[in-house]
Amino acid sequence: RDTPVTGHKRVLLAAPRGYCAGVDRAVIAVEKALEHYGAPVYVRKQIVHNVHVVATLESQGAIFVDEVDEVPEGSHIVFSAHGVSPAVVKGAADRKLEAIDATCPLVTKVHREAVRFGNQGRHIILIGHAGHEEVEGTMGHALDRTTLVQNPGEVDDLVIDDPDNLVWLSQTTLSVDETMETVRRLRERFPSIQNPPSDDICYATQNRQVAIKKVATEADLVIVVGSANSSNSVRLVEVALEHGAKAAYRVDYTNEIRQEWLDGVETVGVTSGASVPEVLVKEVLDDLADAGYIDVAEVVTAEEDLMFSLPKELRKDSSGQI
Ligand code: F3S
Repeated sequence: RDTPVTGHKRVLLAAPRGYCAGVDRAVIAVEKALEHYGAPVYVRKQIVHNVHVVATLESQGAIFVDEVDEVPEGSHIVFSAHGVSPAVVKGAADRKLEAIDATCPLVTKVHREAVRFGNQGRHIILIGHAGHEEVEGTMGHALDRTTLVQNPGEVDDLVIDDPDNLVWLSQTTLSVDETMETVRRLRERFPSIQNPPSDDICYATQNRQVAIKKVATEADLVIVVGSANSSNSVRLVEVALEHGAKAAYRVDYTNEIRQEWLDGVETVGVTSGASVPEVLVKEVLDDLADAGYIDVAEVVTAEEDLMFSLPKELRKDSSGQI
């Protein structure tokens, strides 16, 4: 080995990590659409927030666009896992696009809550990050009735006309702890604010945070595989740092790991965001093994077996089509 072994070098591999059910479904939806309709298939925004997944699908004939008006009339378009607002659905219909909706069912659940509370005349405080596609999609379902709050600090600045008529909802991929702090502050200011009917932060986000918390308490360094625009991946870095990791970094690919990150490190924690294929984690583990981290133990905090059926447009008919 190049690096002298100074102590017991080991890797703690968080589980669950990587693909969630919504990402799996969305990626398969694009693959199926390509298989069935042939290239090109257009995809609005990144199907999931991972550079490797997007590049792979691009090489297979997917064309990623920002908005539906970039797509030739009559083409097939896939809506990403993060969901879209009703205005986008209408825009696609106006251009006579054949839409395949790969919105994660757990995002659709939040959309339905927004519609229902909006119809009831409630005002919605949406906890989430400005500019994130999921937030734009969810806000679009109750446009005039939603106010965005990004973190606990922003609660103090809220100006609300009808403070007794509030309900809060959230983006699915936030830090559970920070969101609870935001909610605590919301309750302080607006004691009658109503909770969502069930957790909006999804099972995959929660499970990956629980696993990395356990790993982080013992890790000198945590490496999170995931892309910069992946909300749940970025949260994993923050959660690791808050729970004892001496350092934590996010990488898209193993070659971004810097030699100096490993200086004096005995225990490396490894995890990956919900949009990350396992092959990228495997490459990180291979490089860590080359650096002397051969002992790999999985830290399992939950088992996941959730699967979603494909978007209805790809399930269609009984004649064997798709
Ligand atoms: Fe859905 Fe959660 Fe994955 S909302 S796309 S299951 S991260």
